[in-house]
Amino acid sequence: MALSEPNRRSPRQFNDLSGREWIRFTRSWFVHNPPRRKRSEIQHPAKYPEGMAEEFIRFFTRQDEWVLDPFAGVGSTLIACAASGRRGLGIEISPEFAALAREAVEAREQLLVNGDARDASRIVSEHGPGRVQLILTSPPYWDMLGKSRGGVQSVHKKRRASGLKTVYSNNARDLGNITDYDAFLDALRDVFVGMKPALEVGRYLVIICQNVRTPEGVVQPLAWDLARRLSGPFQFKGERIWVQDNKPLGIWGYPTEFVTNVHHHYCLVFKHGGA
Ligand SMILES: C[S@@+](CC[C@H](N)C(=O)[O-])C[C@H]1O[C@@H](n2cnc3c(N)ncnc32)[C@H](O)[C@@H]1O
Repeated sequence: MALSEPNRRSPRQFNDLSGREWIRFTRSWFVHNPPRRKRSEIQHPAKYPEGMAEEFIRFFTRQDEWVLDPFAGVGSTLIACAASGRRGLGIEISPEFAALAREAVEAREQLLVNGDARDASRIVSEHGPGRVQLILTSPPYWDMLGKSRGGVQSVHKKRRASGLKTVYSNNARDLGNITDYDAFLDALRDVFVGMKPALEVGRYLVIICQNVRTPEGVVQPLAWDLARRLSGPFQFKGERIWVQDNKPLGIWGYPTEFVTNVHHHYCLVFKHGGA
Protein backbone atom coordinates (compact mmCIF):
# COMPACT_ATOMS: atom_id res chain seq x y z
CA MET A 1 0.00 0.00 0.00
CA ALA A 2 1.39 3.42 -0.95
CA LEU A 3 1.96 5.83 1.95
CA SER A 4 -0.15 8.61 0.51
CA GLU A 5 -3.13 10.56 1.79
CA PRO A 6 -5.80 8.21 3.12
CA ASN A 7 -8.48 7.84 0.45
CA ARG A 8 -11.08 6.08 2.59
CA ARG A 9 -12.15 6.95 6.08
CA SER A 10 -13.01 4.01 8.29
CA PRO A 11 -15.43 4.81 11.11
CA ARG A 12 -12.69 3.60 13.45
CA GLN A 13 -10.05 5.96 12.02
CA PHE A 14 -9.07 8.33 14.82
CA ASN A 15 -6.84 10.84 13.04
CA ASP A 16 -6.42 12.73 9.80
CA LEU A 17 -2.84 11.69 9.06
CA SER A 18 -1.37 10.38 5.84
CA GLY A 19 0.39 7.02 5.89
CA ARG A 20 3.74 8.79 5.82
CA GLU A 21 2.85 10.88 8.90
CA TRP A 22 1.42 7.82 10.63
CA ILE A 23 4.53 5.70 10.17
CA ARG A 24 6.82 8.49 11.40
CA PHE A 25 4.95 8.68 14.69
CA THR A 26 5.04 4.92 15.32
CA ARG A 27 8.82 4.80 15.84
CA SER A 28 9.24 3.73 19.48
CA TRP A 29 11.60 6.60 20.30
CA PHE A 30 11.99 10.23 19.32
CA VAL A 31 14.24 13.15 20.17
CA HIS A 32 12.60 16.37 21.30
CA ASN A 33 14.67 19.06 22.97
CA PRO A 34 12.35 21.53 24.69
CA PRO A 35 12.67 25.13 23.49
CA ARG A 36 13.74 27.82 25.94
CA ARG A 37 10.90 28.49 28.39
CA LYS A 38 8.88 31.70 28.30
CA ARG A 39 8.94 33.92 31.39
CA SER A 40 5.38 32.94 32.28
CA GLU A 41 6.23 29.21 32.27
CA ILE A 42 9.45 29.28 34.22
CA GLN A 43 7.70 29.27 37.62
CA HIS A 44 6.59 25.68 36.92
CA PRO A 45 9.30 23.14 37.88
CA ALA A 46 8.45 20.46 35.28
CA LYS A 47 6.44 21.30 32.17
CA TYR A 48 6.56 19.45 28.86
CA PRO A 49 6.94 21.08 25.44
CA GLU A 50 3.75 22.08 23.58
CA GLY A 51 5.27 20.96 20.26
CA MET A 52 5.64 17.42 21.58
CA ALA A 53 2.11 17.42 23.03
CA GLU A 54 0.80 18.56 19.64
CA GLU A 55 2.33 15.55 17.87
CA PHE A 56 0.49 13.19 20.23
CA ILE A 57 -2.75 15.15 19.85
CA ARG A 58 -2.55 15.12 16.03
CA PHE A 59 -1.95 11.37 16.08
CA PHE A 60 -4.67 10.38 18.53
CA THR A 61 -7.49 12.79 17.62
CA ARG A 62 -9.25 14.57 14.78
CA GLN A 63 -10.13 18.26 14.46
CA ASP A 64 -12.58 19.58 17.08
CA GLU A 65 -12.30 16.52 19.31
CA TRP A 66 -11.78 16.79 23.07
CA VAL A 67 -8.49 16.24 24.92
CA LEU A 68 -8.36 15.96 28.72
CA ASP A 69 -5.25 16.73 30.77
CA PRO A 70 -5.93 16.04 34.48
CA PHE A 71 -2.49 17.36 35.55
CA ALA A 72 -2.49 20.43 33.33
CA GLY A 73 0.33 22.46 34.93
CA VAL A 74 0.80 25.72 33.03
CA GLY A 75 -1.33 24.48 30.13
CA SER A 76 1.03 22.94 27.55
CA THR A 77 -1.63 20.43 26.42
CA LEU A 78 -4.25 23.19 26.06
CA ILE A 79 -1.85 25.38 24.08
CA ALA A 80 -1.21 22.41 21.77
CA CYS A 81 -4.99 21.87 21.43
CA ALA A 82 -5.50 25.49 20.46
CA ALA A 83 -2.71 25.24 17.87
CA SER A 84 -4.17 22.09 16.31
CA GLY A 85 -7.89 22.95 16.35
CA ARG A 86 -8.82 20.57 19.18
CA ARG A 87 -10.74 21.37 22.35
CA GLY A 88 -8.84 20.94 25.58
CA LEU A 89 -10.04 20.51 29.14
CA GLY A 90 -7.33 20.85 31.78
CA ILE A 91 -7.49 20.25 35.52
CA GLU A 92 -4.77 21.67 37.76
CA ILE A 93 -4.66 21.73 41.54
CA SER A 94 -2.38 24.74 41.99
CA PRO A 95 -4.30 28.03 41.67
CA GLU A 96 -1.10 29.74 40.55
CA PHE A 97 -0.37 27.29 37.68
CA ALA A 98 -4.07 27.19 36.78
CA ALA A 99 -4.06 30.99 36.41
CA LEU A 100 -0.94 30.86 34.20
CA ALA A 101 -2.53 28.15 32.05
CA ARG A 102 -5.73 30.18 31.65
CA GLU A 103 -3.71 33.22 30.68
CA ALA A 104 -1.78 31.19 28.09
CA VAL A 105 -4.94 30.02 26.29
CA GLU A 106 -7.12 33.05 26.91
CA ALA A 107 -9.79 33.45 24.24
CA ARG A 108 -8.74 30.27 22.46
CA GLU A 109 -11.74 28.20 23.56
CA GLN A 110 -9.89 25.94 25.97
CA LEU A 111 -11.19 25.08 29.44
CA LEU A 112 -9.09 25.07 32.58
CA VAL A 113 -10.49 24.05 35.95
CA ASN A 114 -8.62 24.72 39.17
CA GLY A 115 -9.39 21.41 40.88
CA ASP A 116 -8.37 17.89 41.79
CA ALA A 117 -7.73 15.23 39.14
CA ARG A 118 -9.59 12.78 41.39
CA ASP A 119 -12.77 14.67 40.45
CA ALA A 120 -12.10 14.45 36.71
CA SER A 121 -15.21 12.46 35.80
CA ARG A 122 -17.50 14.94 37.55
CA ILE A 123 -15.61 17.92 36.11
CA VAL A 124 -15.77 16.50 32.58
CA SER A 125 -19.51 16.00 32.78
CA GLU A 126 -20.00 19.56 34.15
CA HIS A 127 -17.65 21.40 31.80
CA GLY A 128 -17.12 19.21 28.79
CA PRO A 129 -19.16 17.19 26.40
CA GLY A 130 -19.31 14.18 28.73
CA ARG A 131 -16.84 12.32 26.56
CA VAL A 132 -13.26 12.93 25.58
CA GLN A 133 -11.31 11.36 22.73
CA LEU A 134 -7.82 11.51 24.29
CA ILE A 135 -6.35 11.81 27.77
CA LEU A 136 -2.82 13.21 27.50
CA THR A 137 -0.95 14.07 30.65
CA SER A 138 2.15 13.98 32.80
CA PRO A 139 1.56 13.46 36.53
CA PRO A 140 3.97 14.29 39.34
CA TYR A 141 6.86 11.82 39.29
CA TRP A 142 6.07 10.65 42.86
CA ASP A 143 7.62 13.09 45.40
CA MET A 144 10.87 13.37 43.45
CA LEU A 145 10.82 17.17 43.16
CA GLY A 146 11.04 17.43 46.95
CA LYS A 147 14.05 15.10 47.11
CA SER A 148 17.48 16.59 46.87
CA ARG A 149 19.73 14.49 44.63
CA GLY A 150 22.37 14.71 41.88
CA GLY A 151 21.50 17.06 39.03
CA VAL A 152 18.20 18.04 40.63
CA GLN A 153 20.12 19.43 43.59
CA SER A 154 22.01 21.94 41.46
CA VAL A 155 18.92 22.83 39.41
CA HIS A 156 16.99 23.45 42.64
CA LYS A 157 19.79 25.58 44.03
CA LYS A 158 19.70 27.81 40.94
CA ARG A 159 15.88 28.00 40.98
CA ARG A 160 15.81 28.90 44.68
CA ALA A 161 18.41 31.61 44.09
CA SER A 162 16.12 33.07 41.39
CA GLY A 163 13.05 32.88 43.66
CA LEU A 164 11.47 30.08 41.61
CA LYS A 165 9.45 27.12 42.89
CA THR A 166 11.19 23.77 43.32
CA VAL A 167 8.02 21.79 44.17
CA TYR A 168 4.49 22.15 42.81
CA SER A 169 2.79 23.02 46.15
CA ASN A 170 2.38 22.12 49.81
CA ASN A 171 -1.23 21.07 49.24
CA ALA A 172 -1.97 17.62 50.76
CA ARG A 173 -4.16 16.84 47.68
CA ASP A 174 -1.13 17.37 45.41
CA LEU A 175 -0.05 13.85 44.39
CA GLY A 176 3.56 15.06 44.40
CA ASN A 177 3.34 15.23 48.20
CA ILE A 178 2.57 11.52 48.76
CA THR A 179 5.76 10.08 50.25
CA ASP A 180 4.86 6.37 50.27
CA TYR A 181 5.64 4.88 46.83
CA ASP A 182 2.84 2.30 46.80
CA ALA A 183 0.30 4.80 48.14
CA PHE A 184 1.36 7.17 45.34
CA LEU A 185 0.92 4.48 42.67
CA ASP A 186 -2.49 3.54 44.09
CA ALA A 187 -3.59 7.19 44.03
CA LEU A 188 -2.42 7.60 40.45
CA ARG A 189 -4.15 4.39 39.34
CA ASP A 190 -7.37 5.58 41.01
CA VAL A 191 -7.17 8.91 39.14
CA PHE A 192 -6.93 7.20 35.74
CA VAL A 193 -9.47 4.49 36.52
CA GLY A 194 -11.82 7.21 37.84
CA MET A 195 -11.71 9.14 34.58
CA LYS A 196 -12.09 6.07 32.33
CA PRO A 197 -15.86 6.65 31.87
CA ALA A 198 -15.05 10.07 30.40
CA LEU A 199 -12.94 8.51 27.63
CA GLU A 200 -14.66 7.25 24.51
CA VAL A 201 -14.37 3.47 24.08
CA GLY A 202 -11.61 2.60 21.61
CA ARG A 203 -9.68 5.78 22.33
CA TYR A 204 -6.35 6.36 24.07
CA LEU A 205 -4.74 7.47 27.31
CA VAL A 206 -1.11 8.68 27.08
CA ILE A 207 0.89 9.18 30.28
CA ILE A 208 4.34 10.74 30.20
CA CYS A 209 6.54 9.71 33.13
CA GLN A 210 9.94 8.42 34.16
CA ASN A 211 11.56 5.77 36.30
CA VAL A 212 13.04 7.55 39.31
CA ARG A 213 16.03 7.21 41.64
CA THR A 214 15.82 8.20 45.31
CA PRO A 215 18.64 10.06 47.10
CA GLU A 216 19.43 6.71 48.77
CA GLY A 217 20.17 5.26 45.32
CA VAL A 218 17.07 3.07 45.02
CA VAL A 219 15.69 3.02 41.48
CA GLN A 220 11.89 2.84 41.47
CA PRO A 221 10.58 1.81 38.05
CA LEU A 222 7.64 4.19 38.24
CA ALA A 223 6.84 4.05 34.51
CA TRP A 224 6.92 0.25 34.47
CA ASP A 225 4.93 -0.07 37.72
CA LEU A 226 2.31 2.32 36.39
CA ALA A 227 2.07 0.37 33.11
CA ARG A 228 1.54 -2.81 35.13
CA ARG A 229 -1.11 -1.25 37.41
CA LEU A 230 -3.12 0.24 34.58
CA SER A 231 -2.99 -2.90 32.42
CA GLY A 232 -6.33 -4.41 33.29
CA PRO A 233 -8.46 -1.30 33.53
CA PHE A 234 -6.89 -0.29 30.18
CA GLN A 235 -5.06 -2.19 27.42
CA PHE A 236 -1.36 -1.30 27.51
CA LYS A 237 -0.33 -0.71 23.89
CA GLY A 238 3.38 0.07 24.37
CA GLU A 239 5.60 3.05 24.87
CA ARG A 240 7.33 5.80 22.95
CA ILE A 241 10.58 6.91 24.51
CA TRP A 242 11.10 10.66 24.54
CA VAL A 243 14.82 11.42 24.43
CA GLN A 244 16.55 14.73 25.15
CA ASP A 245 20.03 14.73 23.61
CA ASN A 246 21.19 18.21 24.54
CA LYS A 247 21.34 17.94 28.33
CA PRO A 248 24.73 18.18 30.05
CA LEU A 249 26.12 14.95 31.52
CA GLY A 250 26.87 14.73 35.26
CA ILE A 251 29.61 12.44 36.56
CA TRP A 252 27.33 10.60 38.98
CA GLY A 253 28.70 7.58 40.88
CA TYR A 254 32.26 7.82 39.52
CA PRO A 255 34.34 5.72 40.15
CA THR A 256 32.42 3.23 42.29
CA GLU A 257 28.75 3.05 41.33
CA PHE A 258 26.73 2.82 38.11
CA VAL A 259 24.34 5.77 38.01
CA THR A 260 22.69 6.81 34.75
CA ASN A 261 22.20 10.31 33.41
CA VAL A 262 18.47 9.95 32.84
CA HIS A 263 17.65 11.96 29.73
CA HIS A 264 14.54 10.11 28.61
CA HIS A 265 10.89 9.79 29.58
CA TYR A 266 8.34 7.05 28.81
CA CYS A 267 5.20 8.02 26.93
CA LEU A 268 2.94 5.13 27.95
CA VAL A 269 0.05 4.44 25.60
CA PHE A 270 -3.13 2.73 26.82
CA LYS A 271 -6.39 2.03 25.03
CA HIS A 272 -9.90 2.03 26.42
CA GLY A 273 -10.90 -1.40 25.24
CA GLY A 274 -14.48 -1.26 26.51
CA ALA A 275 -16.11 -2.51 29.74
C1 LIG B 1 4.43 17.13 35.62
S1 LIG B 1 3.40 18.46 36.04
C2 LIG B 1 2.45 18.69 34.58
C3 LIG B 1 3.00 19.78 33.70
C4 LIG B 1 2.19 20.02 32.45
N1 LIG B 1 2.25 18.87 31.56
C5 LIG B 1 2.74 21.24 31.72
O1 LIG B 1 3.40 21.06 30.68
O2 LIG B 1 2.55 22.36 32.22
C6 LIG B 1 2.23 17.77 37.15
C7 LIG B 1 1.16 18.76 37.62
O3 LIG B 1 0.19 18.04 38.38
C8 LIG B 1 -0.36 18.96 39.33
N2 LIG B 1 -1.08 18.15 40.34
C9 LIG B 1 -0.58 17.44 41.38
N3 LIG B 1 -1.57 16.81 42.05
C10 LIG B 1 -2.73 17.11 41.40
C11 LIG B 1 -4.10 16.76 41.60
N4 LIG B 1 -4.49 15.96 42.62
N5 LIG B 1 -5.03 17.24 40.73
C12 LIG B 1 -4.66 18.05 39.70
N6 LIG B 1 -3.39 18.45 39.48
C13 LIG B 1 -2.42 17.98 40.31
C14 LIG B 1 0.87 19.72 39.82
O4 LIG B 1 0.51 20.94 40.43
C15 LIG B 1 1.66 19.88 38.52
O5 LIG B 1 1.39 21.12 37.91
